[in-house]
Amino acid sequence: MSGPAGLSFASPADVTARLLANGYLPDATIADAVYLADRLGKPVLVEGPAGVGKTALATITAVATGRLLVRLQCYEGLDESKALYEWDYRKQLLRLQAAQHPEHGVDWEVVSSGLFAEEFLLSRPLLTAIRSESPAVLLVDEIDRLEPETEALLLEVLADFQVSVPELGTIKATSRPLVFLTSNATRELSEALKRRCIYLPVAYPDEKREAAIIRLSVPEADDALAAVVAQVASALRQLKLRKPPSISETIDWARALTVFGLDEVDQQAVSRTLNVLLKYGEDLDLARSELGLPPRATAAG
Ligand SMILES: Nc1ncnc2c1ncn2[C@@H]1O[C@H](COP(=O)(O)OP(=O)(O)O)[C@@H](O)[C@H]1O
Ligand SMILES: [Mg+2]
Repeated sequence: MSGPAGLSFASPADVTARLLANGYLPDATIADAVYLADRLGKPVLVEGPAGVGKTALATITAVATGRLLVRLQCYEGLDESKALYEWDYRKQLLRLQAAQHPEHGVDWEVVSSGLFAEEFLLSRPLLTAIRSESPAVLLVDEIDRLEPETEALLLEVLADFQVSVPELGTIKATSRPLVFLTSNATRELSEALKRRCIYLPVAYPDEKREAAIIRLSVPEADDALAAVVAQVASALRQLKLRKPPSISETIDWARALTVFGLDEVDQQAVSRTLNVLLKYGEDLDLARSELGLPPRATAAG
């Protein structure tokens, strides 16, 4: 287990500086949470709508700290054998065959002592992260997609940085990973899980930070363009849209404007590129009317 010497960040300002150097602009709350997670050795539960930078926070933290990224993408039906470990049945079978004695069959002495040993264990992300030689970043992405019962699989790892394998005993961490859990909040997570985490709700950024993110991600966009893009995105998020624009979509939108060579964001520029930002017909219609644009030409009309 890495002690204080193994800490990754000197201060919240250091978190900000190093994430920024790798293309991610955190706000003060995000920087504080990452710093605390590193200091306290606790997982961060990052919760918020799609496209606000939850996954990127973990992946860029890994890059910024030079840590290995171990990622577990959650989905319905994910089980222990995909999250923690699984026994390598093929290899076990080979071992059994190799232990066949020509006259008196299988030599059980040899077999029973050896079949459930380390060498037959296949590591899955949670185990891989705690067994990593040097400390890793463990990303458990979209945890709200797991069935609530499956969440329990994570608790031992998150609280104690260990995994119990009945046949082998408890495997303790050789290094302590920095853990990020992300959730799109499609359902409530369990109290037990939340108790073990630092909670980091992430919302859409304010205009100033979004403009800075755009400048960072789209070097071709100047300050004026980035400011208008951020302003329109923020205005659109006030509407009752089926899918408000995410940060990745505002970045794409800024890029689309520069691709068209539209460095001035006038009505026409918005009209030609709005489909990069909004992905539902009803959202496009609502936005166009709010922004004072003519109704869109539909394929049928
Ligand atoms: N704070 C940020 N700084 C820089 N880029 C960001 C930031 N937040 C989001 N992004 C951009 O938005 C994209 C989508 O973010 P992502 O992490 O996939 O969202 P989520 O996981 O919340 O759905 C990222 O790949 C990144 O390009
Ligand atoms: Mg994500």
